[in-house]
Amino acid sequence: MSLPTRDACAALDAVDPLAPLRAAFDLDAADARGEIYLDGNSLGPLPRATPARVRQVLHDEWGRDLIGSWNTAGWITLPQRIGDKIARLVGAGAGELVVADSTSVNLYKALATAMTLVAAGAPPARRTIVSERTNFPTDLYIATAAAGERGFSVRLEDAGGLASAIGEDTAIVMLTHVNYRTGHMHDMAAVTRVAHAAGALVVWDLAHSAGAVPVALAGGGDPASAADFAVGCGYKYLNGGPGAPAFIWVHPRHTARMDAEGWRQPLAGWLGHASPFAFATDYQPGPGITRFICGTPPIVSLAALECGVDTVLAAEPFGGLDAIRRKSLALTDLFLALVDARGAGRGLAVVTPRDHATRGSQVSLAHETGGHAIVRALVARGVIGDFRAPDILRFGFAPLYTRFVDVWDAVDRLAHVLDSGEWREARFAVRDAVT
Ligand SMILES: Cc1ncc(COP(=O)(O)O)c(C=O)c1O
Repeated sequence: MSLPTRDACAALDAVDPLAPLRAAFDLDAADARGEIYLDGNSLGPLPRATPARVRQVLHDEWGRDLIGSWNTAGWITLPQRIGDKIARLVGAGAGELVVADSTSVNLYKALATAMTLVAAGAPPARRTIVSERTNFPTDLYIATAAAGERGFSVRLEDAGGLASAIGEDTAIVMLTHVNYRTGHMHDMAAVTRVAHAAGALVVWDLAHSAGAVPVALAGGGDPASAADFAVGCGYKYLNGGPGAPAFIWVHPRHTARMDAEGWRQPLAGWLGHASPFAFATDYQPGPGITRFICGTPPIVSLAALECGVDTVLAAEPFGGLDAIRRKSLALTDLFLALVDARGAGRGLAVVTPRDHATRGSQVSLAHETGGHAIVRALVARGVIGDFRAPDILRFGFAPLYTRFVDVWDAVDRLAHVLDSGEWREARFAVRDAVT
C-alpha cells in the first residue's frame, strides 16, 4: 500500500459522514494553538452546548428556582434519564442503567453484589475473581479490597491466560473491555460465554469502550452472551467533563432476583431506597437498577454529562456507533501505517493489536527509552497524547472530532521530534503530577 499523502487525508475528511459532528465541540483554542487533540480517551473535549446548559442550571434552575428544581427541572430523575441515553450506546435497555458516583465506586457496588449472588447459590469453593494483570489499577485495588472483605481472592492473568484460568473456583470474571495501556479489546461475547459456561458471572469496565466501540451488554440478540454487570466513565469518550459521574448497568435477571428477594447493594444510600421521602428507619431497596443509586446526584456535573452523551447520540442519524467504529478503525489504521513508515528504525514499537477485532480506539506505542520525554516533546509540538508508566505513549482517536489530516500531522510531528532528537532536551525530562 502506498503511503497516503496529506492531500489524500484531506480528501478522506471531505467525504467523511461524521465530519459535521466536529462542530459540536469547542476546539477553537486548541485549533488557534495549532494543537491536535489525541487524548479524548482520557478527557473528552468541551461540547459547545455545555456552557449554556450549565449556565441554565446555575442561573435558572438553582439561582432562580432554588430547591423547587428537584421537581420542576426534573433533577431527581436525571440519573435515570441520562442512564437511558447511555444505555442506547452500550446495548442495554431503558431502565437498566443509571448514572451515579465514580467508576471506582460503581465497580465496588457491582463486584460486591456479584459476590453476594454467587455466595448465595454456589459451592464455597467458588470464591475467586479472575482479572487481567494489566487491568486499570483502580479495578484491581477495588477488587482486592472488596474480595478481602468477603473471603474471596483475586487471581491475575495475562490476556492470553484468561480462558484457561476460568474454572470451577471462578466466581467472577472482571475485565476492562478495552485495555487502558495497550488498547487491546476483548471479545466481550466470547469471554462472557466462557465465564458463564464455567458458572461464573462477568463484570465489565467500559471506561474505554462507551461512546467509542459498539457494545452489546444484553448480548445483541444472543441472550447467552449477555453480560452480568458493567460500569463505565463519563469523562472519556462520553465527553462529560473532568470528573463527570460514571454509570452502572446490571442485567435485569439479577435486578429481578434482587427485587424478588429484597436484596440491597452494599452502599445502600437513601436515594436508592424505594421511597426516599418516606424517611423510613429501615432500608427497602428501590426497584431494579434504582437501588444502585446511593446519595444525592451532582446536578451540575450531570447536566454537563448529558451534553457530552448527546454529542455521541448525534451520530445516530449518520450510522451511530457502527459509523463511529468504521471511522475509528480507519483513523487507527492510518496512524499505524504512517508510524510504520515514518517511525521505523527509531526505537518505536507498536503495542496495540493490528487486528481490527482486538483493537479499541487508541494506539499505544512503546519506546526503548521509556517514552515520557517523547510525549512531552510532542505536547510542546502541539500533539496532545499522554504517557502511561513505565513505557506507553498513548494516542486516542475519538471519531467525532478527529480528522484524517490530524493523524497525518501528528505522525509528521512525531517523526520530526524523533529525527531532530529534540525530545532529549532537559526541559522534557520534567514530570508533572498528571502524565
Ligand atoms: C479502565 C478504567 N477504569 C476506571 C477508571 C477511573 O475510574 P474513576 O472515574 O473512578 O477514577 C479509569 C481511568 O482512567 C480507567 O481507565
